[in-house]
Amino acid sequence: MSITDSGIKQPLLLFLLTLFCFDEGVIVVPGRGEKVALAGSGRGGVLGVGGIRKLLHLQGKGNSSSSSAVFNVKSFGAQANGHTDDTKNLKFVAMNKTVVRGIRSLNSKFFHIALVECNNFKGSLLKISAPANSPNTDGIHIERSSGVYFSRSLIGTGDDCISIGQGNSQVTVTSISCGPGHGISVGSLGKYPNEGDVKGLVVRDCNMTGTMNGIRIKTWPNSPGLSAATNMTFENIVMNNVTNPIIIDQAYCPFTTCASLAPSRVKLSDIYFRKIRGTSSSAVAVTLECSKGIPCQNIYLEDVHLDLLSSQEKKQVTTSSCRNVRVKYIGTQIPPPCD
Ligand SMILES: *[C@@H]1O[C@H](CO)[C@@H](O)[C@H](O)[C@H]1NC(C)=O
Ligand SMILES: *[C@@H]1O[C@H](CO)[C@@H](O)[C@H](O)[C@H]1NC(C)=O
Ligand SMILES: *[C@@H]1O[C@H](CO)[C@@H](O)[C@H](O)[C@H]1NC(C)=O
Ligand SMILES: *[C@@H]1O[C@H](CO)[C@@H](O)[C@H](O)[C@H]1NC(C)=O
Ligand SMILES: *[C@@H]1O[C@H](CO)[C@@H](O)[C@H](O)[C@H]1NC(C)=O
Repeated sequence: MSITDSGIKQPLLLFLLTLFCFDEGVIVVPGRGEKVALAGSGRGGVLGVGGIRKLLHLQGKGNSSSSSAVFNVKSFGAQANGHTDDTKNLKFVAMNKTVVRGIRSLNSKFFHIALVECNNFKGSLLKISAPANSPNTDGIHIERSSGVYFSRSLIGTGDDCISIGQGNSQVTVTSISCGPGHGISVGSLGKYPNEGDVKGLVVRDCNMTGTMNGIRIKTWPNSPGLSAATNMTFENIVMNNVTNPIIIDQAYCPFTTCASLAPSRVKLSDIYFRKIRGTSSSAVAVTLECSKGIPCQNIYLEDVHLDLLSSQEKKQVTTSSCRNVRVKYIGTQIPPPCD
């Protein structure tokens, strides 16, 4: 590990202490006089950074996702026992410019990497893994951030591969391989008052293998406030043995039934699913369950080809299920459109 331009004395020392878990890593700390503040407990090697005005550059040893720095908190590791806490392997708070490259994150107890209120963030060549049955071990969670770019990474966990929460704009995700886990999620949205909108999301050139969902957009019913998720494109995604390859779920009630609750007040619009192909392990490959209160608008499905995994001679086709939405279909449609 080498440090350059280490102008900051005491905070830097704390900063370094939390980074001893990296076998190799180059941390380029910003220039003299810049403030580095630490948040988080440090237990199990949490890195929480806030208030760096210039650039934080976290660089692993190599340029591939396999030959990289190892950030291992296995001793606090994820287990399928429902015991999780707020410990994240890497948490970035209020960072205005960050590059994270070639880092390996293993067995976090909660989210592996979390971004909160970050602008201008680039992550690449990451390798993130936790057992398939470890709860809440999201690979990357992004919230209230803007100008975020993640690329060329391998993510396999027990929960979402990447989750895009409320208040995000201009988020691009490319060339990510997900699985096992729950796939790429937008949400859950609409649970708390005063949530920000999600807009300008692009997810492309990704592979999902053995995941529960491919692309999922989920919102809670009974939303305390109005919000929106708009201008989102999911393009060139390969599904291999995915249970729900395309799913919009605006009646997300994991703990109870939604039946008696007011419909979601998150408005979903201008959402493009383009060139989505591969295999579904369940018959219903496309589920678009929109809010009864605010139906989805401008949902496009273009060149979708999802076969049933178990269908030997492709005799049995996949199906679609739609509620409170009129989809605009372009090009190939397997499963056949909802009428
Ligand atoms: C980050 O950018 C925002 C908006 O430009 C600014 O208000 C804030 O002071 C910046 N934060 C730091 C730590 O420089
Ligand atoms: C990684 O790539 C960058 C630019 O692409 C290069 O400057 C750097 O030397 C490379 N590092 C290694 C370890 O190959
Ligand atoms: C996805 O899989 C294809 C082969 O099916 C491969 O060519 C491509 O590189 C993979 N992409 C990623 C991001 O892993
Ligand atoms: C939609 O999002 C993309 C990607 O962030 C952006 O380039 C484009 O300008 C946005 N379109 C509109 C109409 O806001
Ligand atoms: C499909 O994925 C499931 C995990 O969701 C796995 O158990 C199963 O072996 C996979 N089947 C194939 C044919 O890859």
